[in-house]
Amino acid sequence: DAAEKGGYEHFMLKEIHEQPVAIAKTIAGRFKDGIPDFSESGITAEMLGKYKRIYMVACGTAMHAGLVGKYLIEKLARVEVTVDIASEFRYRSPLIGEGDLVILISQSGETADTLAALKLSKKLGADTLSVVNVIGSSIARESDYVIYTHAGPEISVASTKAYSVQLTIMYMLAFQLAYVRGVIDADQCREYVRKFQEIPDEITALLEDKEQYQYIASKLMNADSLLYIGRGLDYATSMEGSLKLKEISYIHSESYAAGELKHGTISLITEGMPVIAIATQEDLLEKTISNVLEVKARGAMVVMLCKEKAQVASNVADYMIRLPDCEDFLAPMLTSIPIQLLAYYTAVLKGRDVDKPRNLAKSVTVE
Ligand code: G6P
Repeated sequence: DAAEKGGYEHFMLKEIHEQPVAIAKTIAGRFKDGIPDFSESGITAEMLGKYKRIYMVACGTAMHAGLVGKYLIEKLARVEVTVDIASEFRYRSPLIGEGDLVILISQSGETADTLAALKLSKKLGADTLSVVNVIGSSIARESDYVIYTHAGPEISVASTKAYSVQLTIMYMLAFQLAYVRGVIDADQCREYVRKFQEIPDEITALLEDKEQYQYIASKLMNADSLLYIGRGLDYATSMEGSLKLKEISYIHSESYAAGELKHGTISLITEGMPVIAIATQEDLLEKTISNVLEVKARGAMVVMLCKEKAQVASNVADYMIRLPDCEDFLAPMLTSIPIQLLAYYTAVLKGRDVDKPRNLAKSVTVE
């Protein structure tokens, strides 16, 4: 067991550290003239560019990857994307048919609801593309096209490296779609790719600084409840941060769009309640800061995640986590590291069974 963990205390920590390599493996060989290319899976750029509507359907962490994908594809490629939880999608008579693409995202490729959503999509005439980690799994076999992520085996129930490589595919699809639809030219597309290729090294650097996460985790561990907030892409990341933290630490956590707090959730804020605010998006920084000040005025203990260059007055946050400066759209690749490490160290400090949290399964093959 110890050998399998490669010297790490838990599989989760080992898998967090495997992310730079997993991301690099997932993009390797998937370019044509520097432009992302998935024709190996049977789906060409021309086909991708023609779909009327795109759906992302998945469960849990994979659904959060789809949410990031939606923001990216809509922003960079200007194509409408709908994200749905598989267990909802399959029972709500979805409006899909010929000319639409349903993208199923799944680490295991065996999640019962995602598999059912896939079968329903095919029955309704849509094309299906799966983004799957486990080779030869049911979802991979049943879908029209499959793009494999190359995370390698993920043992810990809480998904980390599988999420990063799902995000990686979302980025590559967004870049490719933006190019094929003429929103960006080939040079711009190559420039996006070049910037993305710097991510593995940036993650490696981020992983070196563990003390700050351990310290902040020691401030979170006694909370009964906490909130994760953000806007735009940061909102998607905050959903994943909140899920990660609650599933392994058992601290109640909710994620909220920062601007929505005032419509109810702010009444939950009491003295000392932790609020983790993700604020990497430059155009939204001021807006998020004003939401943070609102919770701070009501006693919240604020942990803030910002880019290095973001100007934030010293009275805004109690604890500040700085991320390397990057293009705003790339931030979810980097913010995934602090949210994983905060969840991990909080669970460790609470003495939880990190790799096997109670009541959860790695792969949910029954409905
Ligand atoms: C379970 C796992 C989660 C995972 C979800 C979807 O709930 O505990 O980590 O995100 O299933 O799994 P999949 O294999 O379809 O990605």
